[in-house]
Amino acid sequence: MIGTPISPVSAVGRVTANRYVSSAFLRLDIDLGLPFDFRPGQFAMVNEPGPGGWTFSRPFSVLAAADQTLSLLYRVVGRGTAALAELPAGASLQVLGPLGTPFPAPTAERSAVLLGGGVGLPPVLAWCERWGRKDDIACFGARDGAEVPWELLGPRWHVSVDRPNGLPPGRVAFTGVVTGLARTLPGLPGPGRADILACGPLPLLRAAARLAQERGWGCYLSLEEHMGCGYGVCKGCVVPVVRGGSVRNATCCQEGPVFAAADLPWLGEEDGGRGEDTH
Ligand SMILES: Cc1cc2nc3c(=O)[nH]c(=O)nc-3n(C[C@H](O)[C@H](O)[C@H](O)COP(=O)(O)OP(=O)(O)OC[C@H]3O[C@@H](n4cnc5c(N)ncnc54)[C@H](O)[C@@H]3O)c2cc1C
Ligand code: FES
Repeated sequence: MIGTPISPVSAVGRVTANRYVSSAFLRLDIDLGLPFDFRPGQFAMVNEPGPGGWTFSRPFSVLAAADQTLSLLYRVVGRGTAALAELPAGASLQVLGPLGTPFPAPTAERSAVLLGGGVGLPPVLAWCERWGRKDDIACFGARDGAEVPWELLGPRWHVSVDRPNGLPPGRVAFTGVVTGLARTLPGLPGPGRADILACGPLPLLRAAARLAQERGWGCYLSLEEHMGCGYGVCKGCVVPVVRGGSVRNATCCQEGPVFAAADLPWLGEEDGGRGEDTH
């Protein structure tokens, strides 16, 4: 159940905060000067405004939106995100969003198993903040303890790390992959009683799909494909989907980024069934 679509807004906003919330992640708050609504799993295209802007806007999942402020969480990986990290309060940013198909809303019959890895945290955190119930399970995986944005994670979040260094005093984390962490948790729902909602790198998504299959759960995955326009025109983000037995190309920006794992059978083909995920 997705509900009535939310019309995207295009606005030049003003950065109100842009700061590291862990060794790897920055939180960016942008005052858009108008209300911004979204559904968890949707994203926004961001660019520097005017002639100095990047050739292609960059997509970022919505972390939160309150009043007129849109919040994103990002990691510096290249030119665009490095430029973002330099932006002082008061700088202008062009924003288009919300875009894309969100995660499904909760249902009374099924709990949610939220799995986020690295920069895949914002959409599952947004889901948890908006809809999280007592029986839902929330797991986040990072490379190490210093990378975890602890201030954003409430007590319900379970954390896994590849390496147990950098953990702040009093914090605990499972050493291993995030799906490995989920498997250790007590009281996991039975078959047909849960849906995995996951976002992160492809190995994590593959492991999430495999976990769902083993447990008899549903599974929805948010893909982080490279994107040019964000709204279906450039076709730079197509992924093959299988529905009703036939394969076709779907635009990740419009029909995704969230897909049912059942629509993406190719996910299981590339890692030889090792079942590993990374962050
Ligand atoms: C729907 C969606 C939501 C996203 N949400 C977030 C988010 O919440 N936080 C966040 O930090 N990032 C997110 N990303 C990824 C983010 O868009 C890229 O990291 C960003 O565009 C990189 O821009 P850049 O100019 O810094 O890097 P570039 O200079 O363009 O590239 C640097 C390196 O990063 C790789 N790269 C670029 N884009 C992607 C991508 N989409 N997936 C994997 N590798 C990529 C390039 O291949 C290259 O190796 C999301 C992507 C999508 C499609
Ligand atoms: S990003 Fe252009 S069609 Fe999807």
